[in-house]
Amino acid sequence: MHIALLGAGGLVGSIFASQIQSRGHRLSVISRQDCDLYVRGELYKRLAEVSPDILINCAGYTGKPNVDACETDKANCLAGNAVLPGMIAEACDKIGIAWGHVSSGCIFTGKRLDGAGFTEQDPPNFSFRQNNCSFYSGTKALGEEILADVSRCYIWRLRIPFSNIDSSRNYLSKLQRYDTLLEAENSLSELNEFVAAALDCFSLNIEFGTYNLTNPGSVTTSEVVALIQAAGVSKKQFQFFDSESEFMRLAAKTPRSNCVLDSSKALTAGLRLTPVREALQRSLDQWDPQTCTE
Ligand SMILES: NC(=O)c1ccc[n+]([C@@H]2O[C@H](COP(=O)([O-])OP(=O)(O)OC[C@H]3O[C@@H](n4cnc5c(N)ncnc54)[C@H](OP(=O)(O)O)[C@@H]3O)[C@@H](O)[C@H]2O)c1
Repeated sequence: MHIALLGAGGLVGSIFASQIQSRGHRLSVISRQDCDLYVRGELYKRLAEVSPDILINCAGYTGKPNVDACETDKANCLAGNAVLPGMIAEACDKIGIAWGHVSSGCIFTGKRLDGAGFTEQDPPNFSFRQNNCSFYSGTKALGEEILADVSRCYIWRLRIPFSNIDSSRNYLSKLQRYDTLLEAENSLSELNEFVAAALDCFSLNIEFGTYNLTNPGSVTTSEVVALIQAAGVSKKQFQFFDSESEFMRLAAKTPRSNCVLDSSKALTAGLRLTPVREALQRSLDQWDPQTCTE
């Protein structure tokens, strides 16, 4: 398969690039230098030259070092997360190729009223429509709304990526570096499994639509900390905020999404996602401290 990739230089895109190549597919990276994705017709023109079989979009605006940064760069955040998917949909439709979009589970907060995780049928409850969200989450929910009627597209929801490689963007590294932690229950995505599952959507010919690509189950922050300590990855004495309101007062500018997602649609479709505790344990057993310079 010949795959066009947007956002190949980012955290998620770089893993896609390496898995696309290791699976023996042909990779064509489309970067800012190749075309301005916001100019109508530019991406179509580039796709006509490259002639890929499919496209994968990992371009988006995340805010660095965290989502608080989106609050002060709203135009770029809205453009990258909501306008861009619409532009890509238009170009892919015009050229007649299927594509996949990396979305986020951060458009939900908490759990369903019945205590279960949110499914792909549940409407986002952490979005501009609820007026309760960070600007980042609002734009990611808008991005999904824009794609709601696109027929040949996968929307893959990534949630709090982690892996065995120490990096400033890895959840397991972040927990070790923060001074104080917020206790919360979340679903998580092991990054390599997320990317493999997304690529499998094409190779297994899975039905187009939205998929929660999270490792089955959920964990609390203190459970993850206990796993980090038990694996001998950190000897640090971890401190926790007394409450979410203390966290909001001392360490955050905008509300965070903490949520549980149900990944059974992905599992039923045949995608492989290891239960979350097992996936965490494996990453910690294979922990690669690297020399993180980011
Ligand atoms: N990381 C997470 O925790 C997380 C969690 C859930 C969902 N996601 C979603 O996953 C996607 C990828 O995130 P990431 O963490 O990999 O982000 P990242 O590391 O910031 O990478 C984003 C990539 O997108 C490219 N890009 C952004 N705007 C572009 C534009 N207008 N034209 C061309 N390229 C553009 C960037 O290129 P430049 O380097 O040239 O700027 C960069 O390569 C995003 O949609 C994000 O919302 C991420």
